[in-house]
Amino acid sequence: MTNTNDTMTEKEKEEVIPLLTPYKMGNFNLSHRIVLAPMTRSRSYNFVPQPHAALYYSQRTTKGGFLIGEASGVSETAQGYPNTPGIWTREQVEAWKPIVTAVHEKGGIFFCQLWHAGRVSNNGFQPHGQPPISCTDKRIQKDIGNDVASTDRYTPPRRLRTDEIPEIVNDFSIAAKNAIEAGFDGVEIHGANGYLLDQFLKDKVNDRDDEYDGNLENRCRFPLQVVKAVADEIGADKVLQPLDRTHPQKLAIRRRVPKVL
Ligand SMILES: Cc1cc2nc3c(=O)[nH]c(=O)nc-3n(C[C@H](O)[C@H](O)[C@H](O)COP(=O)(O)O)c2cc1C
Repeated sequence: MTNTNDTMTEKEKEEVIPLLTPYKMGNFNLSHRIVLAPMTRSRSYNFVPQPHAALYYSQRTTKGGFLIGEASGVSETAQGYPNTPGIWTREQVEAWKPIVTAVHEKGGIFFCQLWHAGRVSNNGFQPHGQPPISCTDKRIQKDIGNDVASTDRYTPPRRLRTDEIPEIVNDFSIAAKNAIEAGFDGVEIHGANGYLLDQFLKDKVNDRDDEYDGNLENRCRFPLQVVKAVADEIGADKVLQPLDRTHPQKLAIRRRVPKVL
């Protein structure tokens, strides 16, 4: 790591593995470019991170390495799978602390992934058995990722009223504050994979008739409000925002925003 390109011999240059070279990510100095992707483990019983996660994450930590934690629900309406962690209650924040400490003790940089499943859920995960919330009341027809029809898995969602949307934005903001309190170095806002932010973005899903749909700018409004609220809360230098990486075409800009894009 101390060698620079100028002082290295030709043979040493040939041996450099790009993935193992340092990278400056905003204010963070990463010692290499291998990142632990966010990966749901479904072992956070009752939505509370468990002590064994400290071992799990520290095993995957290197000095100066970057880790993104598994998707963590921002509110009691955010969940859609069994035993995924949350970051909205005091108990969850306290439970994350030793896990984050374990990563920091090995020199890792650790971001919390903030997540709302939206309609990728069912009444069983929702408070008082209510319908999951979304930008739409259209139910998911196919299982995400594998195209297997599984309508039983997802119950019909409830379309959020326009005046409710700022409350969801606020949930993200509070969750970000909680993540920093738990010791995380920053947050990643989950904007992909068909979850709530992605549901607002996609015109195949978003069928609203208010300022949150109608054109691409309107469909971006809710995700951008979330990004701004979170950045205002904890500082933009601590915020990552991935969009749908696997299926960019699914942004579906063809129907209502033609040719210019
Ligand atoms: C078991 C499993 C759980 C995952 N959980 C999450 C998650 O919680 N959040 C997320 O953004 N992506 C999740 N993913 C997606 C991965 O982070 C990653 O994006 C995916 O495996 C594809 O890798 P790529 O984005 O480098 O192509 C998960 C993937 C797997 C295999």
